[in-house]
Amino acid sequence: MADAIEQIDQLVKTGLEELAGAKNTTELEAWRIKYIGARGKVKDLMGLLGTVPREQKRELGQKANGAKETLATAFEAALAAKGGPVSQDAIDVTEPGERLQIGNRHILNKVTDELTELFGRMGFSVASGPEVEDEFHNFIALNIPRQHPARDVLDNFYLDGAGAGGTGGIGVADANPRLLRTQTSTVQIRVMETQKPPIRVVIPGKVYRPDTVDQTHLFQFNQLEALVVDKNVTMVDLKSTILQFVKAYFGSDTKVRFRPSFFPFTEPSAEVDVFFEDRQKWIELGGCGMVHPNVLKAVNIDPEEFSGWAFGFGIERIAMRKYAIEDIRLFVENDVRFLSQF
Ligand code: DAH
Repeated sequence: MADAIEQIDQLVKTGLEELAGAKNTTELEAWRIKYIGARGKVKDLMGLLGTVPREQKRELGQKANGAKETLATAFEAALAAKGGPVSQDAIDVTEPGERLQIGNRHILNKVTDELTELFGRMGFSVASGPEVEDEFHNFIALNIPRQHPARDVLDNFYLDGAGAGGTGGIGVADANPRLLRTQTSTVQIRVMETQKPPIRVVIPGKVYRPDTVDQTHLFQFNQLEALVVDKNVTMVDLKSTILQFVKAYFGSDTKVRFRPSFFPFTEPSAEVDVFFEDRQKWIELGGCGMVHPNVLKAVNIDPEEFSGWAFGFGIERIAMRKYAIEDIRLFVENDVRFLSQF
């Protein structure tokens, strides 16, 4: 028994000496295999236990376990000092993990969904069209004549030379120049080109105008367009639909007013204002009106048989009022402190 104890002490002693002499992680690994590996010297010690008398087993067992622990602990310390892998035991599993940053839906997309969902309940389906357009869909079919100020090359983002006359801002004349659409009314035309009445659609989408950026203007923003074409459609349908929408979205006691206005593609035309109590102010949502007969003719719909109404509202404006957002630039600045609030 005294022999065995001495043997154990000796093993620990030489083990620690050799460990101190290990110069790198490779030598440390060799040491680990030799001493505390699955077939190492400590394992042999355990084998030794099988040969001693029963009454000594307990004491020797404890001694051997102590030796194993001493060597293993010394090895971990040596390995950590040499920059090797940290043992599993050194990982604090109770420490909070690093939380993944999960994004959320952009507020403008949320508002767009709310609007299309609301109009969906009123029987509207959703349509869309291209953001790069031609003059036919952006102007001509919408009854906007060549000399109309809206067609000034400086008020549009033309991608090609504008007009066969060569008035384009980038030199080359193009018979069918393209531009970024300035209004979602273009999609009214695209819908009517492919669909016969009855038509009942809303069209959310981006539009582009070379405006100077400030608190209420961007050179790119979103509109929600609506178009209804059917037999016997009147201004009563237009007004009641808009009233229902405003009251459903902003609250049942919200005041709405229709101001006479002018748009080439509607007759009569009106602007829609909503009164916001907190600001004691009328705020314009956008324009509306009865679809002009020339627009129906441009897409081969007989204005004697069918009539229609339309509106185009600014989605940012709606979102800003609904969610008390004071600056339109916040929508595009991608500041998570803003975006994560919604
Ligand atoms: N397209 C117009 C604009 O961008 C807004 C508009 C006015 C759309 C009247 C309509 C409408 O559909 O009927 O300023």
